[in-house]
Amino acid sequence: MGIQALGYLGLHATNLEDWSGFATGVLGLQLAGRSNAELAFRMDDRRQRIVIARDATDGPAFFGWEVEDAAALDSMAARLESAGIAVTRGDAALCDRRHVRGLVHCLDPFGNRVELVHGAEVTSAAFMPGRCLSGFRTGALGMGHAVMMVEDVAAGLAFYRDILGFGVSDWIERPFRGYFMHVNGRHHSFAMLEGKPTGLHHFMVELFNLDDVGQGYDIAGEQDGRIATTLGRHANDLMTSFYAKTPGGFMVEYGWGGRVVDPATHQAEVCDAGPSIWGHERLRMTEAQRAEQHAMKRQMAEAGLRAPVQVVAGNFAMAPGECAWWEQAKAAGV
Ligand code: FE2
Repeated sequence: MGIQALGYLGLHATNLEDWSGFATGVLGLQLAGRSNAELAFRMDDRRQRIVIARDATDGPAFFGWEVEDAAALDSMAARLESAGIAVTRGDAALCDRRHVRGLVHCLDPFGNRVELVHGAEVTSAAFMPGRCLSGFRTGALGMGHAVMMVEDVAAGLAFYRDILGFGVSDWIERPFRGYFMHVNGRHHSFAMLEGKPTGLHHFMVELFNLDDVGQGYDIAGEQDGRIATTLGRHANDLMTSFYAKTPGGFMVEYGWGGRVVDPATHQAEVCDAGPSIWGHERLRMTEAQRAEQHAMKRQMAEAGLRAPVQVVAGNFAMAPGECAWWEQAKAAGV
């Protein structure tokens, strides 16, 4: 049994105060623990999902990947060691800090700290979001996804795909190389994009309701320079989302309606439609880069790129009547 989910994320930050307001007021996370050195946030029944520690720099501190039990942890540690990767077993104090029963850690080829864990602690205390929202889509899908900018995608594949057993959902070749990988039904829990500057590009959290995302968009829009990418829909995981600039400089994707794949049968495929079906205007890109993306979106729109919304029970209502256009599109296999 391999890795089952992205369980938690650790960040380091130069400005904990800004993070506190952003994470609760914009993202709607619950501040679950606070000290002068560290903030811990909840997004569901877990004791903590995101931990942010005060530091001299901003960026990712660790990625917590879950396996089923102690035996699975041992077998994953053995697999890493036989591939020549140094693995350290976390002591009781570290397990307590992470609220897990067992933990080993190592470095990925880019120097990121990868923690493999089992037995994450849940709490019976009700989740109290930082602002009114319907909730985060987590459970078996994990806490969301993380996307890294890397110099060499091939080195990352050798580690994440070939040793840790991540499945490739799809990849892109333009406007840059990127690999999107799953460890459960979530289309991607981890992705690598080739380019600079290297480091954490963004992490994503998914909401149950499209209106949670829209209301977050309104709040972010009131803050100067907060929105990094306008509302839009991705071509590969079909997520409707926007990107906000975090106090750490990297981005967070705030999304709804992500596609679920079946890891047992999913075939990796190239995704040449470009990153987005519509929207996702990348406000920090140059005019030339934006023009290229506009052209890709226009081309795909004219070619008929459309996809059904991905809903879960309880967040949609069927409208009466038929949509002739949609019946036609379905018949054409779109
Ligand atoms: Fe994303």
